[in-house]
Amino acid sequence: MPSFSEILQRRTIFRDKDVLSPHYVPDVLPFREGEVEKIMLVLSGALKGMRAGNLFIYGKTGTGKTCSVRHVMKKFMQMESPAKTVYLNCRIYNSKYKVMHKIAKEFIPELEKSGFGISLIYEKLIEWLAGGKIQLIVVLDEIDMVKDLNELVYTLVRTNDELLGGGISVVGISNRLSFKEMLDPRSKSSLCETELTFAPYDAEKMKAILKQRLEQGFVQGAVDESALNLAAAIAATESGDARYALRLLLRAGEIVDAGGGQRIDDSHVEEARRSVEGDMIKEVIQTLPENQRIVLYAVANLSQKGGRYSKLGGNEDGENFLLSGEVYEEYSRVCNSLCVKKRSARWYREYLNELEMLGLITTIESGRGMRGHTRLIKPGYPAEELKKIVWETMGLEEEGKKKEK
Ligand SMILES: Nc1ncnc2c1ncn2[C@@H]1O[C@H](COP(=O)(O)OP(=O)(O)O)[C@@H](O)[C@H]1O
Ligand SMILES: [Mg+2]
Repeated sequence: MPSFSEILQRRTIFRDKDVLSPHYVPDVLPFREGEVEKIMLVLSGALKGMRAGNLFIYGKTGTGKTCSVRHVMKKFMQMESPAKTVYLNCRIYNSKYKVMHKIAKEFIPELEKSGFGISLIYEKLIEWLAGGKIQLIVVLDEIDMVKDLNELVYTLVRTNDELLGGGISVVGISNRLSFKEMLDPRSKSSLCETELTFAPYDAEKMKAILKQRLEQGFVQGAVDESALNLAAAIAATESGDARYALRLLLRAGEIVDAGGGQRIDDSHVEEARRSVEGDMIKEVIQTLPENQRIVLYAVANLSQKGGRYSKLGGNEDGENFLLSGEVYEEYSRVCNSLCVKKRSARWYREYLNELEMLGLITTIESGRGMRGHTRLIKPGYPAEELKKIVWETMGLEEEGKKKEK
C-alpha cells in the first residue's frame, strides 16, 4: 500500500485542480462583459439607496449565469453602501419558508435557529430593512426549483409596499424558460421587470474560456492544442455548456495522471467524454422513480434482444425501434420478477414522455401500414450501458444473473 508521501510525490499534470472546478469564479469573464454590465446597471440603484430593479436571467446550463451574477455580487460588496446582497441556490432552499428563513438568518442573528413561524421571520426582516434603510438584493439561483414560487415572489415584492425606508429586489436565474409560464401574471410582471438571456457558447468562445482556465489549472504544455480544440468543439456542439467542457478537461487530466502520462491528447478527451457522459446519465437515472427506471431497463433489454417490430421488417438502416406494447409487456415482466407493483398504461405513457424529455429514449409515431398509430421506441444511449447503470442505481445484481442463477 502506498504512503501519503508517495502519493503526494506522484507526478501530476495539474497545477491547481480547483481552477477547473465548476464552483470557481474567474476574475475575468470573457464574452459576458455586456451581460455583466447589464446586471450591474439594474442593481446599481441600490448603491444610491434606491430600490434596485428586479431581474430575470435565463439561459441554458453552463452559459455563465451563476458566475456572472456572483462576479457582480463580489464587486457590489466592495462598494461603500448600506445595501446588501444574498445568494441562494433554490435546489437547497426550495420553498418560500426555507428562502425567507435563510435570508433572515443571514442578517438577523437571533433568527439563526430553526422553528420560527413565517410571520415572525417576515416581521423581523421588515424591521431590519426599515431600521437600517437597507436595500437588499436577493439572488434566487435555479429559481424554478421553488415549490411555492408564486407566493414567494409575491411575499418578497409585497414587502416593498410595507416599507418606508429600504427595499427588496429579486434576481431570479433559471435554466428553463418554460418556467415563466408557471408564474401567475402578477409575479411574472414583477420578477421579469428586466430580462436577460445568456446565449450558449460556440466552439471558438468555448476554446477561449477553456484556455484561460487551463493556463492556471495545468502545468505548461500539458494540453495539446488539438485536444483543446476537440474538447471545445464537443462541448459547443453538444450543449454550449462550459461546465461540461471543463469537466471534460478535468477528467482527461485525471486519465493522463492515472496512466503516468504528461500530455492530454485527442484520445484522452474522447475517453473523458465517454466517462463524463456515463456519469451524467447516471446522475439523471438516479433521480428517476423506480418504476420509470424499470421502463428504461425494459427498453434497453428488449432492444438488445430485438423486438417484434424488427421481425416485422419495420426497421431500416440498423434502427432498432420497439413497439410501445411490447415494451409495456417487458416492463410488466420485469416488475413481476422484481416483485415491484407495476403501474397502469397511463402512467407508463407518462414515463415514456419524461424519459424522452431527458434524452434517455427516442420515440416516433409509427407510419402507415401499422394497425392504427403506435409509438415506436428506442434507447437514447447504448443499451448495455443503460442496463448496467439502472441496476447499479437500484443496488441490484444484474437481472439475468438473479433469475437464472
Ligand atoms: N464567460 C466565461 N468565462 C470563464 N468561465 C466561464 C464563463 N462562462 C462560464 N464559465 C465557467 O463555466 C462553468 C459554468 O458556469 P455557470 O456560471 O455555473 O453556468 P450556469 O449558471 O449558466 O449554469 C463555471 O465553472 C464558470 O466559471
Ligand atoms: Mg447556475
